[in-house]
Amino acid sequence: MTLKLSRRHFIKGLGVTVASIALSRFVFLPAGCSSGSKKTAFSNRLPIPPLLKNTSTDPNKVAFELAVQKGSSQFFEGKFTETYGYSGNFLGPVLRVKRGQEVNIKVKNLLGEVTTVHWHGALVPGEMDGGPHQTIATGGEWNPHFVIDQPSATIWYHAHPLGKTGEQVYKGLVGVFIIDDEVSQKLNIPKDYGINDIPLVVQDRRFAEDSSLPYQLSADDLLHGLMGNTILVNGAISPVLDVKTVKMRFRLLNGSNARIYNFTLSDKSKFTQIASDTGFLEKPLEMDTLELSPGERAEVIVDFSSHAAGDVITLESEGLKIMEFVVKEKASDTIAIPGELTTISKIAATAAAKTRVFRLTAGSERAGINGLQMNMAKGMDTVHENVKLGDTEIWEVIDNTGMPHPFHIHGVHFQVLDRNGEAPPANELGWKDTVLVHTQEKVRLIATFKQKGIFMFHCHNLEHEDAGMMLQYEAK
Ligand code: C2O
Ligand code: CU
Ligand code: CU
Repeated sequence: MTLKLSRRHFIKGLGVTVASIALSRFVFLPAGCSSGSKKTAFSNRLPIPPLLKNTSTDPNKVAFELAVQKGSSQFFEGKFTETYGYSGNFLGPVLRVKRGQEVNIKVKNLLGEVTTVHWHGALVPGEMDGGPHQTIATGGEWNPHFVIDQPSATIWYHAHPLGKTGEQVYKGLVGVFIIDDEVSQKLNIPKDYGINDIPLVVQDRRFAEDSSLPYQLSADDLLHGLMGNTILVNGAISPVLDVKTVKMRFRLLNGSNARIYNFTLSDKSKFTQIASDTGFLEKPLEMDTLELSPGERAEVIVDFSSHAAGDVITLESEGLKIMEFVVKEKASDTIAIPGELTTISKIAATAAAKTRVFRLTAGSERAGINGLQMNMAKGMDTVHENVKLGDTEIWEVIDNTGMPHPFHIHGVHFQVLDRNGEAPPANELGWKDTVLVHTQEKVRLIATFKQKGIFMFHCHNLEHEDAGMMLQYEAK
């Protein structure tokens, strides 16, 4: 019912002209950002999600247990908010594994409604992917198992039930998943988890007056996705992290439903990006701004060595304060970011057996991809694209809607060939699984499909995804 309604709104909403959408985006975004949150900013400590306990004694295996559950979280002092979490009240623990290990996970659904757990960025067969197909009934259990065979990376996991991904993610069903390998272990980069290697899950939320977190979508939310006016990092409102004058590695995950961030540091200093979605870049990259759309990850190193005790550096995005780093004391480290991080073999465009064109559509066409939508009524059996297992393909993704869309493909890692015919920015030359297609842009991706099964590809603006901007391919 709700899905139908939201589809209609989505279509209607997207039916306005490109110009007015572009305009309304600029009008609506800042308005949403500036409306005040109730809490005095920066009084919260940054929570560090715990590493999930591996119960296997075999070094080649990892056994995890996760409970999908309801929780109660204290975002505001003395006020409790109903939330969802993995083995906790909000968000989930960090799953950490090594390349080559066989992972067995026991997922129990105690949520009181159907859910799925998707391993976003993991190269696993279709039945283990945790997309909308792998539903876990209320009270039920799911036991995915797969061998990790991909380079070290910061991937993540989140709920992905058909039509309800936005709501379940919004309420807290998100966690970080770290893969280590020989490369990550050898590099002289910060790698003490929780000390100088810290995940930052950035999300925006819109709390109601009573501190609850309702998932109620206005017409504008259906059009642009839900934008909140309160920023959470690791589940705390604009928190503070105490640092020493050393190099710190941050694993940034945009776990927001729809907001795109352009991260900067308040002292205008540069930081070094070392990894994109699914692995290290070949070379570290000095940056002063990092654009990250929903679903994307980036690992960055911030060097606090030029600071004095007492300095406060704010992580910001277009005037929004994300969190603060407070320099507590002088210290030094022996970390020297190497000039080369890894090697990435570039897939040549000529290796492609085929080019598929995907237009993100709205307006005169049905909102979706090529005018098609993932459709609950039609069932989950409609495979839109058949890919030959082992083939390399170019996917050309074009925005025809007048707004940006983060485009994500399950079951594969891709390289960005070009944006409107031009080379992508240097921080997009590594492996990725999600790419932002800007307004009216044409982005060409190239990938070799090695995982067997049925997989989704979709806009990672979760309101768009739930409204049907999602299709599936089968690789066989
Ligand atoms: Cu992050 Cu289809 O998902
Ligand atoms: Cu995914
Ligand atoms: Cu979208």
